[in-house]
Amino acid sequence: MERRTFGSTTLELVRGDITEQEVDAIVNAANARLAGGGGVDGAIHRRGGPSIMEECRKIGGCPTGSAVATGAGRLPARHVIHAVGPVWRGGTHGEDEQLASAYRRSLELADELGARTVAFPSLSTGAYRFPVDRAARIALGAVRAWLESAPTRIELVRFVLFDEATLDAYRRALAELGD
Ligand code: APR
Repeated sequence: MERRTFGSTTLELVRGDITEQEVDAIVNAANARLAGGGGVDGAIHRRGGPSIMEECRKIGGCPTGSAVATGAGRLPARHVIHAVGPVWRGGTHGEDEQLASAYRRSLELADELGARTVAFPSLSTGAYRFPVDRAARIALGAVRAWLESAPTRIELVRFVLFDEATLDAYRRALAELGD
């Protein structure tokens, strides 16, 4: 299953590269120092150019489970929302709640910015080693709950998954969400 509607918002799953998304806001898998890195973070700063890091330096940091917004430099998106997911430490250190919170806060920020289309990567499932099946259930559950909790101007939430195994995990989680 690749697409479902929650409230008046479409949630869809695609395989692809987050930096190529022509949406109002893309979400970065950032760290708490907003210091850049590899994976999604490296790709966004590389393709977006130095203005994004300049803004990150001014902001200074962001706690785990939260998010901050900058411009998108040379990327096709208008905003980058830097979300900080948890590092996986076995699942007993509040990681599930921190991950859900990173998604919720990103959606809140996107809505405040007036974004109608938002693209997420799979937060925390790369360098931060969060198990992907569990992360996919939390991600889609948190986004669904948020979309159904209040009216929003967001029309499209797209999960952009980099590899087939991750896309498959999100497909399974979307099918399991229930009605
Ligand atoms: N587009 C979409 N997804 C991508 C891209 C891309 N261009 N590049 C990598 N991914 C995928 C990875 O394959 C993984 O499935 O995004 C998922 C998240 O991986 P990471 O980017 O490593 O993010 P995370 O696990 O949250 O780790 C964050 O890594 O790069 C550092 O600075 C970052 O310290 C932070 C940490």
